Amino acid sequence: MLASGPLSGKWTTYVCLLSTLSTLFAPAVSVKEHDFKKCDQSGFCKRNRAFADHAVGTSAWQSPYNVLPDSGAFKDGQFQATILKTINDKGETVRLPLTVSFHESGTARVTIDEEKRQKGEIELRHSSKARKERYNEAEQWVVVGGTSLDKEAKVAFEDKTQITVQYGPSSKFEAVIRFSPFTVDFKRDGQSQIKFNDKGFLNVEHWRQKIEPPPEPEKKEGEEAEGEKKEEEKKEESKGEDESTWWDEQFGGNTDSKPRGPESVGLDISFVGYEHVFGIPSHAGPLSLKQTRGGEGNYQEPYRLYNADVFEYILDSPMTLYGAIPLMQAHRKDSSVAVFWLNAAETWIDVTKAKDSKNPLALGSGSKLSTSTHWYSESGLLDVFVFLGPTPHDITEKYGELTGTTAMPQEFSIAYHQCRWNYNSDDDVKDVDAKMDKFKMPYDVIWLDIEYTDEKKYFTWDGHSFKDPISMGKQLESHGRKLVTIIDPHIKNTDNYPVVAELKAKDLAVKNKDGNIFEGWCWPGSSHWIDAFSPAAREWWASLFKYSSFKGTMENTWIWNDMNEPSVFNGPETTMPKDNLHYGNWEHRDVHNLNGMTFHNATHHAVKSRKPGELQRPFVLTRSFFAGSQRVGAMWTGDNQAAWDHLKASIPMVLSQGIAGFPFSGADVGGFFGNPEKDLLTRWYQAGAFYPFFRGHAHIDARRREPYLAGEPYSTIIAAALRLRYSLLPSWYTAFRQAYLDGTPIIKPMFYTHPSEEAGFAIDDQFFVGNTGLLAKPVTDQDREMVDIWIPDNEVYYDYFTYDIVPTSKGKLVRVDSPMNKIPLLMQGGHIFARRDRPRRSSALMKWDDYTLVVTIGRDGKFAEGDLYVDDGESYDFEKGQYIHRKFVLEAGKTISSTDAEGRDPKSIKEGEWFKKARNILVDKIIVVGAPSSWSGKKEVTVESDGTTWTASVEYSPAAKGRAAFAIIKKVGASIAADWKVVV
Ligand code: GLC
Repeated sequence: MLASGPLSGKWTTYVCLLSTLSTLFAPAVSVKEHDFKKCDQSGFCKRNRAFADHAVGTSAWQSPYNVLPDSGAFKDGQFQATILKTINDKGETVRLPLTVSFHESGTARVTIDEEKRQKGEIELRHSSKARKERYNEAEQWVVVGGTSLDKEAKVAFEDKTQITVQYGPSSKFEAVIRFSPFTVDFKRDGQSQIKFNDKGFLNVEHWRQKIEPPPEPEKKEGEEAEGEKKEEEKKEESKGEDESTWWDEQFGGNTDSKPRGPESVGLDISFVGYEHVFGIPSHAGPLSLKQTRGGEGNYQEPYRLYNADVFEYILDSPMTLYGAIPLMQAHRKDSSVAVFWLNAAETWIDVTKAKDSKNPLALGSGSKLSTSTHWYSESGLLDVFVFLGPTPHDITEKYGELTGTTAMPQEFSIAYHQCRWNYNSDDDVKDVDAKMDKFKMPYDVIWLDIEYTDEKKYFTWDGHSFKDPISMGKQLESHGRKLVTIIDPHIKNTDNYPVVAELKAKDLAVKNKDGNIFEGWCWPGSSHWIDAFSPAAREWWASLFKYSSFKGTMENTWIWNDMNEPSVFNGPETTMPKDNLHYGNWEHRDVHNLNGMTFHNATHHAVKSRKPGELQRPFVLTRSFFAGSQRVGAMWTGDNQAAWDHLKASIPMVLSQGIAGFPFSGADVGGFFGNPEKDLLTRWYQAGAFYPFFRGHAHIDARRREPYLAGEPYSTIIAAALRLRYSLLPSWYTAFRQAYLDGTPIIKPMFYTHPSEEAGFAIDDQFFVGNTGLLAKPVTDQDREMVDIWIPDNEVYYDYFTYDIVPTSKGKLVRVDSPMNKIPLLMQGGHIFARRDRPRRSSALMKWDDYTLVVTIGRDGKFAEGDLYVDDGESYDFEKGQYIHRKFVLEAGKTISSTDAEGRDPKSIKEGEWFKKARNILVDKIIVVGAPSSWSGKKEVTVESDGTTWTASVEYSPAAKGRAAFAIIKKVGASIAADWKVVV
């Protein structure tokens, strides 16, 4: 029986597909929390928590990890030693190589491995194929820079018990490595910031031989269960360890064979004096992470990172979602620090906060709590990077250096995307395209979900419904629009499908534990999965995207990768068995959280090489991701619901993506499952206009909800939200440029922009956009006609739409009207940002339009500044200097100037075709909000550029009824690419 409600649709499709299957594979009625593991259902999670509890509960607990005396040496920015783990009362030990590296970038890295065993010393069970060392290739996928060793790092102190290394900018950073037990204390300016193993939770489950229990003596019926239980209890008591899941683990009817036995790594990481921690997306919860070990308002479960198809996800939960970025940033007044836990296996993180009486920073500084975290992963290396800030921006910048920054997107991809599961035919697509025009709703991209294919065989078309995809593509192209088609990683296991035949013949699929091709179930029914870890598979994948191969696609076709966690409907927790094998014979267990990124990456490169000399930047959306995915595309937050609380939850989720280095993110506008009421849909468009990735999407069973169907007044209000996004595209693009350069988030929470204002640290429902000073707080509650915006500083704030001066005071809430037709949006004084005000059908059609500059005069009445980045919006020519980057400054309340923001000498740029044409784009209007009263009566201003001077008219409107004075300088006429000055 199927559930009714939002879920039924997804599973209806699935059930139809599987109707001939035995009930063995019948899907759960609905996927809910209990379909995913809780900590005590995950062997290593339970063991690590128990280990921590044991440490806390044992007076004078001694961590059994000690640096082997005299094993350490510091050389060229790196300390190497051997840690001995005492494994039993007899004092036997295992050897764990330790490396602490100090990088020129100012980051430090602690790696603990396990010494390789002699051949034969440890036999793997079940499969002789799985690799016999700890997974150590995550770095190859994730790290792209920032790891040159700091040769200037120096030993400040050293004796038999410890070594202190000074490193980082002006040697301000320090790592005190103590040997017995092994701990590291990271300090900045002499003060502890981050401590490793301070609580003694370090745990490296060493590899060991399985000792098969002696055969049970025969027992009479009824005795058996009891006898076994006692045996189990005895085992646990004797060793203090729960061995029950060391060698096998069951969940939801699946058995995970564990050929290598227990091998988790765990560590406590304390943030001294830090009350707030952020990051570790993706979770549907507040930006400032909650405590996870119970207590009022706290979670009971640790935050989990194990990429999974958790549709109908639960809000305010530490449950895992589709993607994982193990970066955590801690913040207190005027200081940010962070750790990046580089491990791709299933990971859980406990967060607790406590008053720290030993910590002098806790007294009087406003920060009353310290945060302790406890991280544990199922397998792989213990590998942690440490960032000592001190600003939030330092963290995102250094993390960007390490894992890469957001790829510079094509401009169309930051405009509006219209999607649903599904547009039914090429005529349907053409009709929606025409209607969007008819209702004057700009959009750039229309999307095709899985139904466009011939029976879910990717790279094919359903010939009945999509008879002529090229003509569809051409209609879109005629007004600069694009098509996105979905391509998932599961390949239908069927006859007469060349793609699967090649996958098998070339041996490029993921294998099961026995080394045979893995078969599971997804949208097409029986499927195999491309193993994108394999270079040969990636090469083959690229061949499938050639225009000659994927017929019906054109240069304006882009790709959506879904289900890449990977989603396997009949697999454990809806994903792949952990004992599956990937390229290099690594177990899936080791690489699970990387899987989605490798597939996304393969598609990105495939699209980039569709034809020789392809010049366009690829656009590929992914659902699953890991640290580094930002380099290859955008993500969305998966299958949300058409409900107000899902709209609300989307904002901290998107903010968290930004903090964790993957800001090109958004949620399905309207909510995927269910049917939004018109007010919800409208509010969602208003919020979505502020997601870096802005796409409307709907489930196959949801009613049609293209924005023109909403009816009045909603359609008009939605159109206004779309146009607002389009007019601000130049500023959004400039924010993306910054993200590309140094990892800065595109929308920024209060703690990021105002790191001294403690009252703002936990606020996650309002944000600044790029460097514009635009402060948005989308309405996420039904019938809410006014919102309270928290004001972080003493600047003046204007209402974006009315120019009213908002009566603000620092640290206070200000109430702002927000009837249905209004997005609460303020302009912080002191900025200059660019818009394109002419309404057009798509961003491509705006390419040569003139600009409007908006100047919001700051509290001093005289000053404002900002910047604008422009390039051709599609190619890589920007890498060769083919871009315009202007800095605008208003000085002394009377001159506004534009200069090259990077101080480039114009003569140094060899202008290509785009650049030459772009010289003709002009600054049309300059709107000066808060214009000084001395401007009143002025009719003209002087414009100087390139040695020529002319005049432009100015219209001044005095302040009235709470509205600021403003002036509009019309037809300025200076080239956007040139230096110019407007003198009032
Ligand atoms: C998954 C995606 C959803 C998509 C559907 C069909 O549920 O998250 O966006 O529409 O699959 O492809």
